[in-house]
Amino acid sequence: MIWSSFLAAALLLQGTSATPIKRATDTISKRAAKAKFTVKDTKAFAGATELKTSNSVLSLKTAGVKAKGSSALHNAVRASTGRTLLIPSEEGAGYSVNITFGGKTFEVILDTGSSDLWLAESGVKCVDVDMDPVATAECGFGPLASASFQDGAIANENFNISYGDGEFLTGVLGYENVGVANITVDKQEVALVNYAYWEGDNVTSGLMGFAYPTLTSAYRGTDASVDNENTTAVQYTNWIFSAIDQGLIDPMFSLAIERGSNGGGGQLALGGLPSLAFNHTFTSTPLKIIELTPHAVEAKNYSYYTIIPDGFLLSGEEETYYGFQEFSEDPSTTYPVIVDSGTTLVYLPERVADDVNALFDPPSVYIEEEGVYENYCDAVPPTFAIRINGTDFYISGAELLLTGELGYDEYTGGCVTGVQPMDGIYILGDVFLKNVIAVFDIGASEMRFAPHEKY
Ligand SMILES: *[C@@H]1O[C@H](CO)[C@@H](O)[C@H](O)[C@H]1NC(C)=O
Ligand SMILES: *[C@@H]1O[C@H](CO)[C@@H](O)[C@H](O)[C@H]1NC(C)=O
Ligand SMILES: *[C@@H]1O[C@H](CO)[C@@H](O)[C@H](O)[C@H]1NC(C)=O
Ligand SMILES: *[C@@H]1O[C@H](CO)[C@@H](O)[C@H](O)[C@H]1NC(C)=O
Ligand SMILES: *[C@@H]1O[C@H](CO)[C@@H](O)[C@H](O)[C@H]1NC(C)=O
Ligand SMILES: *[C@@H]1O[C@H](CO)[C@@H](O)[C@H](O)[C@H]1NC(C)=O
Ligand SMILES: *[C@@H]1O[C@H](CO)[C@@H](O)[C@H](O)[C@H]1NC(C)=O
Ligand SMILES: *[C@@H]1O[C@H](CO)[C@@H](O)[C@H](O)[C@H]1NC(C)=O
Repeated sequence: MIWSSFLAAALLLQGTSATPIKRATDTISKRAAKAKFTVKDTKAFAGATELKTSNSVLSLKTAGVKAKGSSALHNAVRASTGRTLLIPSEEGAGYSVNITFGGKTFEVILDTGSSDLWLAESGVKCVDVDMDPVATAECGFGPLASASFQDGAIANENFNISYGDGEFLTGVLGYENVGVANITVDKQEVALVNYAYWEGDNVTSGLMGFAYPTLTSAYRGTDASVDNENTTAVQYTNWIFSAIDQGLIDPMFSLAIERGSNGGGGQLALGGLPSLAFNHTFTSTPLKIIELTPHAVEAKNYSYYTIIPDGFLLSGEEETYYGFQEFSEDPSTTYPVIVDSGTTLVYLPERVADDVNALFDPPSVYIEEEGVYENYCDAVPPTFAIRINGTDFYISGAELLLTGELGYDEYTGGCVTGVQPMDGIYILGDVFLKNVIAVFDIGASEMRFAPHEKY
């Protein structure tokens, strides 16, 4: 309760008059100016395929777990900024799908910010954050997979993945038939987890990553403690790329994530567009090869779904458009962002996030103790859009302030806002994705977006 009054006092101290937008010529944020990347454009695939509605669509369900995707990314964020990709509540973050694994159905988190498919296997040993053994139930896994593969585990390989909030899992790799919607990849390389510190929801049994094979987490050898992502990683083709390589689907998938009022689910469409009504006018922008985290292979090939937006449109009492150059000392600086269904919020350069939060009525407050901007749950958000290749994609007020259980902070009594500051790594999470139909066009090495119909 003391935290409740903390937020109230902080808001009171700051006053309720809207802070004017900082002008583009204001002191440049040191943090934002620091971000510099080398961008490489390489076409890995044959080219654009006509967009048509997919025959293989399946529903996404809101999962009762923390957003856990983007393992490498979360770790890098934590290492470089001391921040975690944080939401205060554990409810309703992340989206899950049903898959078949060796003919049995399992529910898994769908993550466009990582690349492995793993399931917890029966006999999995659970530990707490200090690696002390705990009961398996403490991990909160859904049904466990049987601890075997078609041809036994792959010799001399281990699986090792960890998450920014401290969760970690290790296991073995092997081959199994894996079905998503009505597409089955035979003998897909997958991981079975036998050792975990995990905070699950008792429903989902694992996670399925749809990012590029570059980010897979298999390593040579059987001693996970010496795994090194630059030197002992053994890249393998993950499910979505197997389905494409084998010609089972056109080289793309798309996501239509819906907000709570619509059931809080959505659609995953393989090889085409979701089957729902929307205006098929798409804006496309190239995917980029950029080493976002210190991980040598990211400099050589596609890894995350990384794009470079033009800038941002923000309006409160007056309208301001930000190009990236306007808040960087170096006009050649670019601000890559990743499109990540496994992250709940939108993380942008400090300067932009500060301004978005300043234009709420009343202005939001940065809660140092939690490292997050919050506001009253009935505050009025500004108008905010991300400009991608000339098109402004508005983020609805419904997402700019997370008023549901997901965003409610019981310590302060406040609600988390949708756009948060980050240093060097920027992410368009579900707060953005709920406003668009997103096509991950692997064939054309492009992201394509269309506004979601009003809903
Ligand atoms: C998946 O189902 C749809 C419609 O139910 C069908 O048109 C399509 O051919 C099926 N695809 C495969 C690979 O079976
Ligand atoms: C998976 O299937 C089960 C059983 O039909 C169903 O209860 C559950 O909601 C499904 N999950 C998803 C993510 O569609
Ligand atoms: C999962 O089940 C355990 C009991 O087996 C319970 O203690 C825990 O709170 C449940 N977790 C969730 C997220 O429901
Ligand atoms: C996973 O790999 C890291 C190195 O990347 C290592 O520090 C860690 O100990 C490994 N995990 C386990 C459980 O061995
Ligand atoms: C679809 O969007 C485009 C671009 O905004 C617009 O010009 C067009 O009129 C829209 N079509 C329909 C049927 O609403
Ligand atoms: C904008 O779209 C055009 C047409 O698809 C494409 O050629 C161009 O590379 C895109 N530019 C940016 C900056 O996204
Ligand atoms: C991997 O390589 C990058 C350079 O691309 C380096 O910054 C990083 O420290 C290396 N990581 C390890 C674990 O050696
Ligand atoms: C880059 O990734 C694609 C897709 O996984 C793969 O086909 C290609 O061989 C990779 N290229 C390099 C240089 O690793």
